[in-house]
Amino acid sequence: MKTLVEKKEDQFRPINTDLLQDGGDDVFDIYYKTTSFGNTEFVKFASSHPSHQEKVRKLISSGECTEFFIRQDDLIKYYHQATEQLRIMISDPAIPLLNKTQKLYDVSKDIMKNFFEYSGSEEVLESSENVMSLMDQCLSEGQARFDTITQVISKDYFIYTHSLNVGLYCLVYGINDQMSAVDIRCLGLGGMLHDIGKAKIDSSIINKKGPLTRDELDIVKTHPKVGQEIMESMQCYATSVVRMAGQHHENYKGKGYPNNLVGKDIAPFARICKVMDVYDGLTTHRPYKKAVKPFEALIIMKNEMKDELDPNILGKFIRYMGPGS
Ligand SMILES: [Fe+2]
Ligand SMILES: [Fe+2]
Repeated sequence: MKTLVEKKEDQFRPINTDLLQDGGDDVFDIYYKTTSFGNTEFVKFASSHPSHQEKVRKLISSGECTEFFIRQDDLIKYYHQATEQLRIMISDPAIPLLNKTQKLYDVSKDIMKNFFEYSGSEEVLESSENVMSLMDQCLSEGQARFDTITQVISKDYFIYTHSLNVGLYCLVYGINDQMSAVDIRCLGLGGMLHDIGKAKIDSSIINKKGPLTRDELDIVKTHPKVGQEIMESMQCYATSVVRMAGQHHENYKGKGYPNNLVGKDIAPFARICKVMDVYDGLTTHRPYKKAVKPFEALIIMKNEMKDELDPNILGKFIRYMGPGS
C-alpha cells in the first residue's frame, strides 16, 4: 500500500527495526526505499504504532525489504525508543556482554554520525549521552576489559566512530583504574565528545581523503577551543568533561595546542583522552594511511611519543591492554 512517496534522500535516515518498541507514545512513520529508472523514492508503509508491528515484521521476514527509514525530523523519537529497548536488553543476564556492547555500539555510532554529518543538534547530543550512560552501566557491571571493545569497534576511521572509540577506551580505562562511578561516566562522555568542535568545521576538510594543507591544518587546530566553547555554552557538562575537549591536543612536555600547557597543568582526564585519541588514530585505517596493529601502536607510543603522552597514564594503559588484566 503506497500512501506517500517522498524523494529527498537526505531527509531520511536508516533505522534498526530490532529497536522498535512494541509500544511507545512517540509514533513516527516508517518508510522503505525503492529505485526505479535511477530515481530513489521513499515509500511510507507503516508507523511505529503497535498496531503496525505485525506489518513491519511480515515485510522483514518476507525478505523483500531489509532496510527501513524514518524522516530525519523523527530521529529523536526513534532514539528514545531505541534507548528504551537497549535499557531492557542490557538488564537481561542471558545476553552475553559482547552482544550487548555490539548493539550499544551500533546505536551510538548512528547517533554520532547524525550529529557530525547532518544535524550538530544539542538534542542529538543528549541522545548520545543517554546511550553512553547505558554503555557505562553495561561495561561497568560486566567489568569489561579492553578486548571486549576492540572486538566491536569500527577499525575504519570516521569522525563519528573515532569519537565513540575514544569514549569507550576512556570508559574502560576508568573501569580498570577503579575510578568512582561519577568519574567513569565523565571520562567516557568527555572521550566521546572530545572532538565535538570538528562539527563546526567544513566537512570537506574533516573528510578529506588525503593529507591536509597548512591552511586546512590551521582550521582543524581550532577544534579544541571551539569544542570547549560549545560545551560551555550548553552549561550542562562538568568541568572535567569540558577540559577534555579543550586540552586533548596539549603535549605532556609542552608545544601542544591551543595553550602550550605542560605536565600536570593539563587536566588529568585530558591527558587520559590524549593517550586514547592517539591510540585510536594509530589503530584505525584512513584512505591515506594503514592502521597499525595494537601491539605496534603501543610500541610507537612508548618509544616515539614520550614528549606528548603522560608516561604514567601510558604505562597503565599498556598494562590494562595486556592479557589477563
Ligand atoms: Fe582532536
Ligand atoms: Fe580525536
